[in-house]
Amino acid sequence: MKNANALQYGIICCMKNCEHVAIIMDGNGRWATAQGLPRTAGHMAGSDNVRTIAIAADALGVKYLTLYAFSTENWKRSKEEVGYLMNLPSFFFRKYMKEFLDRGFRIRMIGELDDLPAATAKVLREAEEESKKNSGLSLNIAMNYGSHRELVLAANAYAKDVLEGKAELGIDEAGFEKYLMTKDFPPVDLLIRTSGEERISNYLLWQIAYAELEFVPESWPEFTPEVLKRCLDEYMTRDRRFGGVKQ
Ligand code: IPE
Ligand code: IPE
Ligand code: MG
Repeated sequence: MKNANALQYGIICCMKNCEHVAIIMDGNGRWATAQGLPRTAGHMAGSDNVRTIAIAADALGVKYLTLYAFSTENWKRSKEEVGYLMNLPSFFFRKYMKEFLDRGFRIRMIGELDDLPAATAKVLREAEEESKKNSGLSLNIAMNYGSHRELVLAANAYAKDVLEGKAELGIDEAGFEKYLMTKDFPPVDLLIRTSGEERISNYLLWQIAYAELEFVPESWPEFTPEVLKRCLDEYMTRDRRFGGVKQ
């Protein structure tokens, strides 16, 4: 199945140096409005597209796919929209979890799940638990995630460990990363934002320090496996120097 998908997208797992792709899945609301549909229809189409793109990313050799689903700022939206977004994970995992498990995907969450409605947090934790033994694509969902919040929580956790004698003063970058929600993931290689906006909106600020950035005009529901392939092809043309000089 995996090879069939790989062939379909014309590439067989050769994206060795694009291990971690992060996507700001933007434009669901505008996509729906443009078709005379309620914004929530865009979120439903967007959530179905998570499955499509996760399968494509896996076939293209991506190992970690980190998707921005709900930010710490998205609480500002209407009660109806927030309510809809909080119910989506339950529909989503009911529809697709079995397939994800069959494909060996591991589901992991970043964000403060404790501040979500209890039923939403339960569904998300169950998805993590059920897939924790899998070693295939790490499908990471950022839910109630904000980078500033993550960094403040990390600083507080570190300070507490110092006070309790569990950590030394003066940790380095690698030491600090252990306090981040992404501690189990490598740095982001490629950050994609859909729907034409060119901003980061509080996403993975630490983790994208040396990521390549791509801003595509397609909205998230229109972001097809072919567009992902185009982004990965573009990534392959980039010259990543990490502050050094090209040999
Ligand atoms: C992204 O689409 C999904 C979330 C932020 C939850 P938007 O809902 O932001 O759609 P636009 O940007 O308003 O079109
Ligand atoms: C970023 O999109 C958050 C997610 C995709 C979940 P937003 O639509 O919330 O970002 P802004 O408000 O345009 O910066
Ligand atoms: Mg938006």
